[in-house]
Amino acid sequence: MAVIRSVIRSVGAYLPKKVLTNDDLSRIVDTSDEWIRERTGIRRRHIAADGELTSDLGIAAARQALVRANIDPVDIDLVICATATPDRTFPATAVRIQAELGISNGAAFDIQAVCSGFVYALATADNFLKSGQFKRALVIGAETFSRILDWSDRTTCVLFGDGAGAVVLEAQPQHGTREDRGILATRLRADGRYEDLLYVDGGPGSTKTTGHLRMNGREVFRHAVQKISGVIEETLLESGYAADEIDLFVPHQANARILDGISRKLGVSPEKIVVTLSEHGNTSAASIPLALNHAFEQHRLKEGNLVLMEAMGGGFTWGAVLARW
Ligand code: ACO
Repeated sequence: MAVIRSVIRSVGAYLPKKVLTNDDLSRIVDTSDEWIRERTGIRRRHIAADGELTSDLGIAAARQALVRANIDPVDIDLVICATATPDRTFPATAVRIQAELGISNGAAFDIQAVCSGFVYALATADNFLKSGQFKRALVIGAETFSRILDWSDRTTCVLFGDGAGAVVLEAQPQHGTREDRGILATRLRADGRYEDLLYVDGGPGSTKTTGHLRMNGREVFRHAVQKISGVIEETLLESGYAADEIDLFVPHQANARILDGISRKLGVSPEKIVVTLSEHGNTSAASIPLALNHAFEQHRLKEGNLVLMEAMGGGFTWGAVLARW
């Protein structure tokens, strides 16, 4: 039976020029390269320049994805930007990206699910494309977390970085089988009872300030492996695939120990996992498309590959997407 699927036509990414190493951080807070590498797997991260906004990062990533897909921006009718660090409280960063790219038809909006933002945005775009409401979507994950970090708090400021990634999705008729190209299954979850484990202590409606990121790292860690593994198992079940049939596992990049725990629990072999954490740190909603782009540029991501993406973040929110490239 013919069905409409959201086929991923291309990926693009952008990283700010400035690099902050663990040694650089050890001159700002009481930490060391050894502590950060051993506890997290991170070696360096990129930091946006003064005046370089989340939208600037997103626009650069989107332009690359559009060129690679050979799609004229005017043929895009849906722009979704996943971000927790928008340029302004409103309008949505997606609207500025849309305007800069010369798109004025269709819809544009942001999704705020923190580190799960890209997975939430992909699932949202997928549903709009499958319903026939839009034909081509630009889905972007873009963050400047450096602007919401407390640079005197060593327990958080060493973990995050800035960056952006983007994909172009296109509604295409497929056969309705598990061998189809495109997004095959998505699963989104949230449980707001855990809000106080990972949050920003400000906002326009409460303090009228931006605030800084606060986290109980040990508790977040405790939930991560179990919640992420659970949602992956549900996604695989829905699609009829087993974990060992995945060609490429592209997880949100938060912590090497979380990635080890998930891949061991699911039985995904290490050579199938895309790890960019050491070079980028945790870039929140940007981490999955940045990792997709890395795999693409390393010729590890090819048409026909079965790709599993997952993320968990503040809220808690979490989710997974299974797609055939
Ligand atoms: N440098 C040196 N020492 C540090 C640092 C640092 N940067 N940060 C904390 N410490 C110290 C602590 O003060 C503590 O010292 P104490 O024993 O004297 O009190 C000691 O190191 C151990 O602290 P813990 O918090 O227990 O360290 P832990 O092994 O749990 O590692 C970490 C902390 C890396 C944050 C870990 O808990 C983690 O990765 N949690 C997951 C959080 C995460 O990834 N969040 C991202 C957003 S959510 C997501 O994307 C899934």
